Formats: sequence, C-alpha cells, structure tokens
Amino acid sequence: MTHSTVEQPVANPLMAGLEGSRDVPPCTLVIFGATGDLTKHKLIGAVYNLAVDGLLPDHFAVVGAGRREKSDEQFAKEMREALDEHSRRQPVDDSVWKRLAQNLHYHQGDYDDKESFAKLRDRLEKIDEEAGTHSNHLFYLATPPSVFPQVAKLLSEAGMISPVSDDSRWTRVVFEKPFGHDLESAQKLDETVHSVLDESQIYRIDHYLGKETVQNIMVFRLGNGFFEPLWNSRYVDNVQITVAESVGVEGRTSYYDQSGVVRDMVQSHILQLLTLLAMEPPSTLSADGVRDEKVKVLRALRPYETDDVRRWTVRGQYDAGWIGGAQVPGYCELDGVEDNSTTPTYVALRAHIDNWRWAGTPFYIRVGKRMTRRLTEVAITFKAPPLALFGHAGVSHTGPNVLGIKIQPDEGIYLAFSAKAPGMKMHLDSVRMDFHYATSFGVSSPEAYERLILDAFSGDATLFARTDEVDLSWRWIDQLLGCWDSDVRVPLARYAAGTEGPAEAAQMLRRDGREWRSL
Ligand code: BG6
Repeated sequence: MTHSTVEQPVANPLMAGLEGSRDVPPCTLVIFGATGDLTKHKLIGAVYNLAVDGLLPDHFAVVGAGRREKSDEQFAKEMREALDEHSRRQPVDDSVWKRLAQNLHYHQGDYDDKESFAKLRDRLEKIDEEAGTHSNHLFYLATPPSVFPQVAKLLSEAGMISPVSDDSRWTRVVFEKPFGHDLESAQKLDETVHSVLDESQIYRIDHYLGKETVQNIMVFRLGNGFFEPLWNSRYVDNVQITVAESVGVEGRTSYYDQSGVVRDMVQSHILQLLTLLAMEPPSTLSADGVRDEKVKVLRALRPYETDDVRRWTVRGQYDAGWIGGAQVPGYCELDGVEDNSTTPTYVALRAHIDNWRWAGTPFYIRVGKRMTRRLTEVAITFKAPPLALFGHAGVSHTGPNVLGIKIQPDEGIYLAFSAKAPGMKMHLDSVRMDFHYATSFGVSSPEAYERLILDAFSGDATLFARTDEVDLSWRWIDQLLGCWDSDVRVPLARYAAGTEGPAEAAQMLRRDGREWRSL
C-alpha cells in the first residue's frame, strides 16, 4: 500500500491540541529519578531523538536529579552509554550529542531534603541565565510514586512552581504512572498535587497515548468517512483488545506483586485504548475536547457486580514454561515473590459500555505477561449480513469481517473479509487487506516518550490523563478488585508461560459463542 500526504485545513485555535504547531519555547527539563531505568531506557533517548529531529528549542537544558552522588561528567558519560545501548537511532550522532551534553547537568539530593530543593532552585536560576531558558521548567517525576507528594510539595516550598497567572514563564510537572494504587490513594495524591499545582500544570503520563498506532485510532475513525457510520452496536458484534507480552516481571517484583496486571495495565493503558475506541467524535481536538469525550465513556462503563465477575472475568497467573526456546520460571518462583502469591499476571474481562452507541456490544479485554508472543491489537468484529445468501450447502464458512488495529510490534491495520475464490463453484474464502506503517511510510515511528515530552514542552495536554479520567478509571477498577476480593469463588486460573493464557478465558468467550483471536 502506498500513501499520499493529505493537506490538512489550516488549524483553527480550537484545534490547538492534536494539530497545533510544535513551537517549543526555551526551557529546562528536570528529571527526578535520573539514575533509574526509565531515564536510561526511554527519557534520555527521547530527548536525544527530538534533538536529532531539530524539534528542541535553541535554548534548552537538562538537569538530572537523583539521590546518588555523581558529577556532571559522570552523569553525561552514563547518559551517553545509555543512548549507545537504547536509542532507536544508531549510531549516536556525535555532533548532536555534544550540543546536548553542553547543557546536561546533575543535581544530587534526597527527595525529602528541603535544602537540596533550595539548591536546585538556585542552580536552575543560574542555568536559566546561562542557557537562556527563560525560567520555563518541566519537572519529570520518574521516581517511585511514593515520593510524588513530597517532591511536589518541596518544589512548591522552594518557590519553583510559578503561578499560572505569570505569563512570562511556566512550570509543568509530569507524573509517571501509576497515579495512585486505588481510588482513595489516587484522590489523596491528587489533593496534594492540586494544593501546589493547577490542573493545567499537571501532566499524568500514559505512554500508550504517545504510540503512533494509538494516535492513529482517532485518525482512522474520525479522519475517514467509511467506518464511522458502522462504528456502533448495530454493526459491531464485539471488540477485542489484546495486550499480550512475552516478558515477565523480573527485576520489578516488589512493585508488581503489590499491583498485579489490573492495576499495572488495565487501569491505565487498556482503559485509554478503550476510551479512544469507544468515544464520541469530539467537537474540537483541543485537550479538553478529546478528554471530555473519553470521560463520558468511563462514566458509561458498567461496574461489575459479584455475580458478573464469575462469568465475565478470569484472573490468572503463569507457571513455568518455554518461550522462544528458553525455559522460564513461574511467577511464584521469582525472587521477591512469595510461593503462595495470588497476584494475577493475566486477566480476561468482558466489559460493557452502557450508552446509546455501544449498548449490546461486548468489549473483551485480555492482558497477560509471559504469553506466547508480544502482541497488542484491537480487533473489531462486524455482524454478519442480514441474510446468509451464500450459506447454502457446499459453500465454505469464511468467518466474519474483522478490522484489526495492530498496535505493536508489527504496526498497521488490516481488514479481513470474504471473497469469491476463483473457479466455477461459488466458493468463498477469507482474505485480508493489510496496511503496514513500515512499508507505507518508510520511516521508523518515533517512540511514545518523544511525542509526549514534546507535547509537555509545548503545553499540549491532550495525550495526558486528566484528573476525572484517573478518578473514574480507579472507581471501575476498585469495583472489579473489590468483587474479586469478596468472592473467593473466582479462582486464580493457571497458565504455562509461553501459551495463550488460561483455558478459563477461552471458555468465557465460548459461553458467548465467540473465540479469542489467535495470537
Ligand atoms: C508499563 C507496565 O506501563 O507498560 C509494564 O508497567 C508493561 O508492566 C509495559 O510491560 C508495556 O509497555 P509496552 O510499551 O512495552 O507495551
């Protein structure tokens, strides 16, 4: 499939969000948690690749803040090593790196140490003067969530949060996920954060929203005329959202064992995907225009009742197995996990959106670790035509029409439909039309963090979760987990690593006369 570039109409001010220009003002990025994995694996690579693309402002600086003692030089050396290992573009361009490294600093301090925050403020003032970054600061909290409240408070106490009324400079704070552990803790965190920041200064990141293919869900639905008329329960039989991972949770067990798959993936990434798929077309693409519609979907999500959870949910945990020819241990065999841990690493759900558009169309969700392969995909299965004209004897059964949105790893969209197989007989076969990002556009997609950091620099919060989104998603999740807790009869299903998940999940769909798409 080839492509041509479609001219977009001149952006009007209401469409500042997704279509606005990428004018990034001079600014300093301050990363808390600068010695952690996220910085090394994703954040520094995002900054570097933005620099390669010429998307950073001329006046720009990065300050890494962490608890460990190290010099600016040592930090720069570690960041360069991280780039050599993890940047999507290799080899690293020395001239781009040198420019970036000139304004790369390290600040050592504890996250609860007032004095360290005062020193950071003084240092930022100096950097602003030297680098010409106009006192515009983006603080990125890539730390354990437990320190979010104190960092926010100390930033405020040290005078590092500028009032929104001050037009001459801005402060924004990016919060990594998870934002809370349940509704109560999320609300408490939100309260603390709102006591020092305005909502317009808060950027709750969900990296799924930065993925090209996830953004394309909106473009595919709303930038084309052909599918939107069919995008409802009259024509759609069911929607399946699959996020299968082959990786386990090695090295992250202390976090994961407290969270499990529902808090780790469903509350954030899955519900974001679901809202983009199900929302009404917004009247503008502004941050609030889009988020208002997403919130309506979350409000319409049917809460689980104790009776439903037995029929409509399956929780599972992986045992030892084989993936890609290698033997992998079971979840409970991992260091840091108790032998009898009941933390789910897999979940299958049947969800309902009780609104005009979606009443009667189930949304099936399946997410798991250590599955047979990595695959994130949405499959929209359409209802059969009203009359089975070709359903007489001797005609093969070809299956329903399916629109597949492949989010990763092989990014693209496919359409499966029936066609007449060549020959004298009326023989129908299932065929596919495929669009692949890689072949159609011939360029590699930017990483999610590149897009999201750039959006935060330019003050565009469209692809960040708003406070009411977080609140409503936790309400729904708490309800589900509450039902599980109160109902010992939802057993923890087992599945071997390297498989498609527990048999109970397949049974759940079979009861509805449907099947999961094969992985
Ligand atoms: C993270 C979860 O948010 O997303 C991880 O904490 C998960 O458990 C990861 O592996 C998946 O992200 P991606 O981009 O690899 O699909």
